[in-house]
Amino acid sequence: MGSPVAEMRELADKVLSEVSKVVVGKEDDVKIILSSIILGGHILLEGVPGVAKTTMAKAIASALDLSFSRIQFTPDLLPADIVGAMIFDQKAGDFKVRKGPIFANIVLADEINRASPRTQSALLEAMQEKQVTIEGVTMKLPEPFTVIATQNPIEMEGTFPLPEAQLDRFLVKLNIGYPSKDEMIEVLRRLRRIEEWPIRKVASASDIMKARRMAWDIYVDEAVLSYIVDIVEATRKHEAVSLGASPRAAVALVLMSKTMALLSGRNYVVPDDVKSVAKPVLRHRVILKPEAEIEGVNVEDIISDVLKRVPVP
Ligand SMILES: Nc1ncnc2c1ncn2[C@@H]1O[C@H](COP(=O)(O)OP(=O)(O)O)[C@@H](O)[C@H]1O
Ligand SMILES: [Mg+2]
Repeated sequence: MGSPVAEMRELADKVLSEVSKVVVGKEDDVKIILSSIILGGHILLEGVPGVAKTTMAKAIASALDLSFSRIQFTPDLLPADIVGAMIFDQKAGDFKVRKGPIFANIVLADEINRASPRTQSALLEAMQEKQVTIEGVTMKLPEPFTVIATQNPIEMEGTFPLPEAQLDRFLVKLNIGYPSKDEMIEVLRRLRRIEEWPIRKVASASDIMKARRMAWDIYVDEAVLSYIVDIVEATRKHEAVSLGASPRAAVALVLMSKTMALLSGRNYVVPDDVKSVAKPVLRHRVILKPEAEIEGVNVEDIISDVLKRVPVP
């Protein structure tokens, strides 16, 4: 038997290996998703249709033996379609609560930009509060609870982009791109019928909650804390940036770095853990100046630049 941290790493490796039976490539993204689920944080997945966003979410939920639900966001989706409603039970002659699809450990909110701001708010409120109130009755959402919201990078007509303040509520944002040629061939080679889903359930909700407690206890040296603050401040001072990363972003960097250390079987954070989470944590929280955007500068370059400039402890 190894140390508790080493055992947690073994468990995480098993989960990642189950997911990789279905998802080709994307190992870094899957690891970030697993870390976010451990922390109870929410994930924004950006990518065009058909790049395995749904497949990834389902595969992770299934390897972790967590309940999963998918909500397709459309312009006519109402808050009650997410949280649920009070309905009249004929037999009992009384009202009872019909819980909505938000009551699952992993909720895939597909194409979040297609619903009205009012419906988006209902989702964001539930994400934040981890509970919902239906006609005055407050109900806790299950633990762990993570929303994976997807959006298409190509802004379509009639969509509602999330305001900056709401983007900050997502622990991480991942940009899911096309597979390489070799990966694409592997996807095609592995095609199988849906009933042959090969993923075994190798962990559980209680393992996730245990990992969360352990992650919080991972040691972070003062020098690494200072490194994180320097990175956050550098995003604010960068000449191409109009709004830099918030204190909430700094908190997210620490927690994600701790969880990545745990998944590597280490009980302390190293600067490489911070680097490995910097883009997922920061990319949706840094807003460029319009003139920088016109010149073709992008957020990914800014964060790379910041990581290059800030001295590593
Ligand atoms: N990297 C990949 N690994 C495994 N399957 C993939 C990959 N990329 C695409 N696919 C396949 O493409 C199809 C579309 O995937 P899906 O998860 O529905 O995409 P999205 O939710 O992004 O629209 C699925 O059959 C999926 O298996
Ligand atoms: Mg999908």
